[in-house]
Amino acid sequence: MAPQHEGTEVVAEEAEAEAADADKKLISNIVIVIAMQTEALPLVQRFQLMEDPDTVFPKGVPWVRYHGIYKDLRINLIWPGKDPIWGVDSVGTITASLVTFASIQELKPDLIINAGTSRGFQAKGACIGDVFLASDVAFHERRLPIPVFDEYGIGARRTFSTPNILRELNMKTGKLSTGDSLDMSPQDEALIIANDATVKDMEGAAVAYAADLFSVPAIFVKAVTDLVDGDKPTAEEFLQNMVAVTATLDQAVTNIVDFISGKCLSEL
Ligand code: ADE
Repeated sequence: MAPQHEGTEVVAEEAEAEAADADKKLISNIVIVIAMQTEALPLVQRFQLMEDPDTVFPKGVPWVRYHGIYKDLRINLIWPGKDPIWGVDSVGTITASLVTFASIQELKPDLIINAGTSRGFQAKGACIGDVFLASDVAFHERRLPIPVFDEYGIGARRTFSTPNILRELNMKTGKLSTGDSLDMSPQDEALIIANDATVKDMEGAAVAYAADLFSVPAIFVKAVTDLVDGDKPTAEEFLQNMVAVTATLDQAVTNIVDFISGKCLSEL
């Protein structure tokens, strides 16, 4: 006779079995979320992706999908596009969560890669041009000083673990803290330090939130353009290093995609 289970136990066991099957299945479908056009276009060329003329996204949004096949992987590179009013890249947490949500709904990826530039803490080992694979993500601008809401605001979570990528590609790792500002107020700084972050960006934790809603594994590749504890003003340092560091970022993403090709999740 079949063992008697509570309904919830059966559901949990089925979910576990499904996750184990997914871990063993070859990765075939990747979504790469990149906030800035300057970061995205070299990868579009590298992977020979085409812009989707009949967008899978709702009519009217500026989000752009580039897609194609590279080394047997279906690659969808999603750029949130230019803001319809201000005409600049739609950076930040709101668009990052929205495009991740819509991409999961429409494209059903096996894995999400969020790639972009970041600000690093020299004191924690970050240098200009370093590329980090984030071990954890959290927010630093969502302050809710009420028990439990405080933790919800910070939203700390582990990222999908990729020990083989780290080892084989000899990458640095550290915690990532996300907020909607390029600069950093003293209060932000205290919270970023409380998050034990090595790098700071404007999208990672927001992509992680949407990916986690649907249990889609996500990894975060962040290249350092400017330093918190360096001696140059943030915006100046960021603009000065953006082009060179983007080339390094794109090479790192290519190496990761090359590594992923022909593997399953459990091999990352
Ligand atoms: N990406 C590059 N520089 C950054 C900064 N200073 N803050 C957040 N994201 C960044």
